[in-house]
Amino acid sequence: MKKDLVSILDIKEEIPEILDLAARLKAERGSHEKPLEGKTLAMIFEKSSTRTRVSFETAMVELGGHAMYLGAHDMQLGRGETIADTAKVLSRYVHGIMYRAYSNKTMQELASNADVPVISGLDDHEHPCQALADLLTVIERKGRLEGLKMVYMGDGNNVCHSLMLAAAAVGMHAVACCPPQRSPDTAVMAEAVRLAETRGGSVSLSHDPGSALVDADVVYTDVWISMGDELDDEEARKLFSPYAVDEKAMGIAKPDAMVLHCLPAHRGEEIAASVIDGDQSAVFDQAENRMHAQKAVLYRILK
Ligand code: CP
Ligand code: NVA
Repeated sequence: MKKDLVSILDIKEEIPEILDLAARLKAERGSHEKPLEGKTLAMIFEKSSTRTRVSFETAMVELGGHAMYLGAHDMQLGRGETIADTAKVLSRYVHGIMYRAYSNKTMQELASNADVPVISGLDDHEHPCQALADLLTVIERKGRLEGLKMVYMGDGNNVCHSLMLAAAAVGMHAVACCPPQRSPDTAVMAEAVRLAETRGGSVSLSHDPGSALVDADVVYTDVWISMGDELDDEEARKLFSPYAVDEKAMGIAKPDAMVLHCLPAHRGEEIAASVIDGDQSAVFDQAENRMHAQKAVLYRILK
């Protein structure tokens, strides 16, 4: 049976193995095996991307395969061809499909109609490949995952959802610290709480940065306005300013706390320039790790 990765829940039992493989492929970059010779990955993008596009394409090439960029507007999809027909047709040509979608509904529709594996490159509900890169980056800096406290600050969005589920699956203590109006999805949080209980960690929701950040080993944030979000700048600033990752916030976390951001970042909004460009920040390692983590995913799913 084909294996999709549209949610962290699809790989919740396999995260440590994926991260081990990613670390090995990273260490052996330039000399590792090329298990995807003759394989093609179609990459459909409905939204902009720098990291996801370049990291997936490079990962495929370095594994011996080929990646094909498909802007949704250049496809017949943009002129009304259905997602289901697109999935069925692409399945006759390629070995896997990476999809960056506006909505989780079309992501599910593509996955259920494709005969080949579908890997999410983000939708409005989750960003699972991002969370894998995030965990890999934490292991590199902290040497472990289990038992560490990770606090996500800001919008309870796609990145937050995958991060909470991934942290739960590996036994971390994760807190989503968000304004009440922009809290993460309650079903995702409930699932993450249950999963964390089985792995010796915890997941919780806070609206108070002052208490949430105490003893944090990892402080994470993302943009206040995601692609496709209709919130305006003024509203976002009002809602999210108390959740900004600035020097005051970092003063509450542990002195050696590391800082993560999935990027792109807006300095002076969700994160201060001095924090993202400071010593505690690991954001460029994190961006690099997208490629290594995705290599591991592609290796396991497409080989
Ligand atoms: N973090 C991330 O997914 O970046 P892109 O939007 O540039 O792909
Ligand atoms: N939450 C952001 C992540 C971008 C990588 C968005 O969906 O736009």
